[in-house]
Amino acid sequence: MPTYQLKVNGESKTVDVASDTPVLWVLRDHLNLVGTKYGCGIGQCGACTIHVDGNPLRSCSTKLEQVEGKAITTIEGLSKDGGHPVQEAWKEVDVPQCGYCQAGQIMTASAFLENNSNPTEEEIKNAMHGNICRCASYTRIRKAVAIAAE
Ligand code: FES
Repeated sequence: MPTYQLKVNGESKTVDVASDTPVLWVLRDHLNLVGTKYGCGIGQCGACTIHVDGNPLRSCSTKLEQVEGKAITTIEGLSKDGGHPVQEAWKEVDVPQCGYCQAGQIMTASAFLENNSNPTEEEIKNAMHGNICRCASYTRIRKAVAIAAE
């Protein structure tokens, strides 16, 4: 089994895992970072979204070998104290219902706002379009993203 050096949430990690293992399972099963969720496993729902070099990425459909040497951020590392503006807005709006998709939603939203700090409603809708919420909390999700941008 090859050994991979990863940079996760600012820390160096070594894992002994097959190169084609999805990053999602490396995070959850080998690094005990279980905030990143499994939804569909085929890149369709967004529950597993993380940041790689600041860009949102579906960890269920990304192989370990593709992220070696890159900066990986999970929901656990987005803010050391959980006080990222998107997380604060999430609390303010009371977004979650079941909560399962929220980590992926927040990771998508935070990466989006890094590149667009003054988005229109339409831009928010488009940016969040690929993150599925089975409770259909979309109105609150979009409101929280708008508040986080303020
Ligand atoms: Fe990765 Fe659905 S679990 S996109």
